[in-house]
Amino acid sequence: EGKDLEFAVNGERFKVNSVDPCTTLLDFLRLNTPFKSVKLACGEGGCGACLVILSKYDPDSDQVKEHSINSCLTLLCSVNGCSITTSEGLGNAKNGFHPIHTRLAGFHASQCGFCTPGMCISLYSALSNAPGPGGGLTVSEAEKSVAGNLCRCTGYRPIVDACKSFAA
Ligand code: FES
Ligand code: FES
Repeated sequence: EGKDLEFAVNGERFKVNSVDPCTTLLDFLRLNTPFKSVKLACGEGGCGACLVILSKYDPDSDQVKEHSINSCLTLLCSVNGCSITTSEGLGNAKNGFHPIHTRLAGFHASQCGFCTPGMCISLYSALSNAPGPGGGLTVSEAEKSVAGNLCRCTGYRPIVDACKSFAA
């Protein structure tokens, strides 16, 4: 008999059992949650459309560590005990958008929108993991924060400009 998996998505607790071990986090999010900002594009770690934030307790530092992961490459079983944040968890129409969302919109950095949630997650992750005592990203670091994200509409200039506007 399989053991239950327990994890949180955008603060909502999920408990699942009898999971097919091949189920990816992306499959689960798309099929079993309302958080459809997470997109399947390449399915092999190359485009960033499926990015989410993983928050995981690190016993060595006794801290919760946060970083972005490709949900298409992440098996659901591996997120047991973790917390996942999608773009909707950063902000949404009901509770107010995150400044990253409004800034990208303000810069007209979203065309079809398919890549946009992944871009938001990459920028959020770069900003929240910014090194140095005062934090903050240099212009070049802000630009590189979305280096792993592909945009099929190829509207990179406004996307990069929006990212650079967050540089310290
Ligand atoms: Fe392209 Fe996951 S769908 S990286
Ligand atoms: Fe269409 Fe980027 S806005 S893929």
